Amino acid sequence: MPAIDFTARLAWFDRHLGGLQAAGAIILCAVDASDRVIGFATIDPATGEMDQLAVAPDAFGNGVAPALLAEVKRRAPGFVKLSVNRDNPRAVRFYEREGFRVVGAGVNPGSGLDISHMEWP
Ligand SMILES: CC(C)(COP(=O)(O)OP(=O)(O)OC[C@H]1O[C@@H](n2cnc3c(N)ncnc32)[C@H](O)[C@@H]1OP(=O)(O)O)[C@@H](O)C(=O)NCCC(=O)NCCS
Repeated sequence: MPAIDFTARLAWFDRHLGGLQAAGAIILCAVDASDRVIGFATIDPATGEMDQLAVAPDAFGNGVAPALLAEVKRRAPGFVKLSVNRDNPRAVRFYEREGFRVVGAGVNPGSGLDISHMEWP
């Protein structure tokens, strides 16, 4: 998503993660053999909401994202809900491959971008 300035969002993102945690979400981190964080995901075990999933670009395609998602599913209450930017075909394809289906559409109130709501199973 090159149109989004993620660096400018860092302070907001830090607060956002803290808010998720305070509301009961778990933050899962994937680390490599050198203990470098190469991916993370959040899951709220009460609501099934996965607010975040991201992997370092140099770890794309090497199984980190499926491993994180497997742990998210294990900690979820039998289902997982997420929203994804519609203009993020790699993520949409990934979620479809991992058993998610589109159940609705909307607009992200923060970015104004079109999003798809997806659910597993
Ligand atoms: C989304 C994300 C976690 C997926 O992890 P990943 O390691 O890239 O996923 P994988 O490589 O296992 O799977 C990606 C799939 O998309 C496909 N793909 C890659 N680029 C694509 C494109 N431009 N259009 C469509 N499909 C694409 C791959 O071929 C693969 O599908 P396949 O297994 O059927 O061949 C990771 O890309 C990421 O962190 N992206 C940035 C953050 C993000 O967008 N998070 C999701 C926000 S909801």
